[in-house]
Amino acid sequence: MSKAPVRVTVSGAAGQIGYALLFRIASGQMLGADQPVILQLLEIPDEKAQKALGGVMMELEDCAFPLLAGMSAHGDPMTAFKDVDYALLVGARPRGPGMERRDLLSANAQIFTAQGKALNAVANRTVKTLVVGNPANTNAYIAMKSAPDLPAKNFTAMLRLDHNRALSQLAAKTGKAVGEIEKVCVWGNHSPTMYADYRFATVGGQSVKDMIHDDAWNRDVFLPTVGKRGAAIIEARGLSSAASAANAAIDHMHDWALGTNGKWVSMGIPSDGSYGIPEQTIFGFPVTCAGGEYQLVRDLPIDAFSQERINKTLAELEEEKAGVQHLL
Ligand code: NAD
Ligand code: LMR
Repeated sequence: MSKAPVRVTVSGAAGQIGYALLFRIASGQMLGADQPVILQLLEIPDEKAQKALGGVMMELEDCAFPLLAGMSAHGDPMTAFKDVDYALLVGARPRGPGMERRDLLSANAQIFTAQGKALNAVANRTVKTLVVGNPANTNAYIAMKSAPDLPAKNFTAMLRLDHNRALSQLAAKTGKAVGEIEKVCVWGNHSPTMYADYRFATVGGQSVKDMIHDDAWNRDVFLPTVGKRGAAIIEARGLSSAASAANAAIDHMHDWALGTNGKWVSMGIPSDGSYGIPEQTIFGFPVTCAGGEYQLVRDLPIDAFSQERINKTLAELEEEKAGVQHLL
């Protein structure tokens, strides 16, 4: 017997990430080849955006996806998030050349207050929420704080693109296949201060750190490359990453819903106070997922270099958080 459909809301559905994301959700790549989905697509009420969304929906129809059990267009979060099971909050302004993601805070913060309130009012109580719109960690914090009747653990931010970027750089450096590398994680904020950490990483049981054996490469090449990859893409494309961002969103939700079989992935989740990160700060951590829940990987040793990096990314997040307190 086929499963009952689940409701998936995507905001910013007519944007560039939306265009790379919706077809993959409807084809089953996010929630599995046996899981029908109903897409509730949110855009700004503006006529041009709604018209563009209508065009994307025509294309979705034209794919005749067997798993697409229904779809609707929305200009109001209160209808878009009604009874939703999975919410992907993508809609927000992207940065341009020369900007940092935190420069978007004032433009985007209000969006996440309104959407958090709408989720609080009308979403399924088990809704799994992923914030992609930048600055993703602080926007997720705003949405979580605006939804006091939903469990805080339902709100996450996307660190998976950084995680995947780190995996690819490590694969290139070691000459190993991406899929063979395990136990990489990215700590902190989705920003250049993020700390991509391969101290625990292994390939076929062998330590990646021992294979690389070059602290200068870590500090001077690996961390800046991963940390500034978003800016490098904006510089090259004139637009921010879209297909790789959509891919990371699919990976994040897929793993959260269907599990990681013990493998580590990185998610921005509300801290429970572990590793000295203040409670409820949305911070990138190593997690495993099983049974529809994520579990923090606990008790990892933190050396002096790592502590310094974690402190730096935390300080930036605390500053962003302080800047939005007036909205909460
Ligand atoms: P885009 O400009 O192409 O699309 C954004 C869409 O969101 C637009 O169609 C816009 O009309 C819509 N939108 C704006 N406000 C909205 C609202 N209140 N409700 C619903 N829709 C709204 O941008 P994009 O390239 O798709 O990027 C979207 C966001 O994702 C940006 O903030 C970008 O910086 C961020 N991003 C995050 C990551 C990450 O790893 N976390 C990666 C890439 C991009
Ligand atoms: C990315 O990392 O590619 C996105 O966050 C877009 C950006 O502004 O860098």
